[in-house]
Amino acid sequence: MNAPAKTDEFVAPEAAASKPAIPDGVYAETVLAVEHYTDHLFRFRMTRPAGFRFRSGEFAMIGLMVGDKPIYRAYSIASPSWDEELEFFSIKVPDGPLTSHLQKIKPGDTVLMRKKPTGTLVLDALTPGKRLYMFSTGTGIAPFASLIRDPETYEKFEEVILTHTCREVAELKYGFDLMEEIREHEFLGELIGDRLKHYPTVTREEYPFQGRITDLMESGKLYTDLGLPPLDPAVDRAMICGSTAMLKDTKLLLEKAGLTEGANNKPAEFVIERAFVG
Ligand code: A2P
Repeated sequence: MNAPAKTDEFVAPEAAASKPAIPDGVYAETVLAVEHYTDHLFRFRMTRPAGFRFRSGEFAMIGLMVGDKPIYRAYSIASPSWDEELEFFSIKVPDGPLTSHLQKIKPGDTVLMRKKPTGTLVLDALTPGKRLYMFSTGTGIAPFASLIRDPETYEKFEEVILTHTCREVAELKYGFDLMEEIREHEFLGELIGDRLKHYPTVTREEYPFQGRITDLMESGKLYTDLGLPPLDPAVDRAMICGSTAMLKDTKLLLEKAGLTEGANNKPAEFVIERAFVG
């Protein structure tokens, strides 16, 4: 009698035992690239599951096996919906339950993702307009990294303004990298041209553009710097992503200008979402 043939599926019992146990019903994806910006910020790219659909601007639950347990946090998907890979922009918290581990990932490692994306920073939640303002602080730029690379954004809006405010200049680098990637991209560069404006400011270092975005809106400096008129609910739409305090203060200024808050089931003039802390 012949011995059974060894096939590619054959896995020695020792090798199977050393594989991390992946929970049922979640995607297990492979890290493709990691880029560290500062001691507190990094981005990574990973494979995209074949059946995974999302709308640019949405977030997903991302996780890692820590010991024998999965730990998940909400992460905005920073890549656009057409991208074959998924990108995320994260803070590093030294004792953060997830980010203390996530910051150590390397190409080839496995990252978990729950199957259902969600979120309110989507084009469908806004009524038609001419100009789209994206107000972000810190890692709150992530959903906008997705939307500014989606051609649909430019089908719906003539002009897009991305504001990004951080404490320090080094924290702005991801935004500058995105702008360069778009300029150099074979289709996006031409499609977008000068319709996307980037307005980076810092609050705790010397820089040509300084101050909280809320102060720059109130003083009107934001609009004079950009050569644009003040907010007008007839033509301007907005999305906000940052800390809870930043959301509250920016929302008040939008409401003062006459814009109303919308949602997926009730589109209006602006939408907000907390920048999730890993
Ligand atoms: P500031 O340095 O004046 O606090 P954080 O890391 O605390 O989330 O802050 C990120 C950026 O958001 C910082 O530049 C910070 O400015 C700014 N910021 C914090 N709170 C608010 C707020 N309530 N409104 C507008 N900007 C804010």
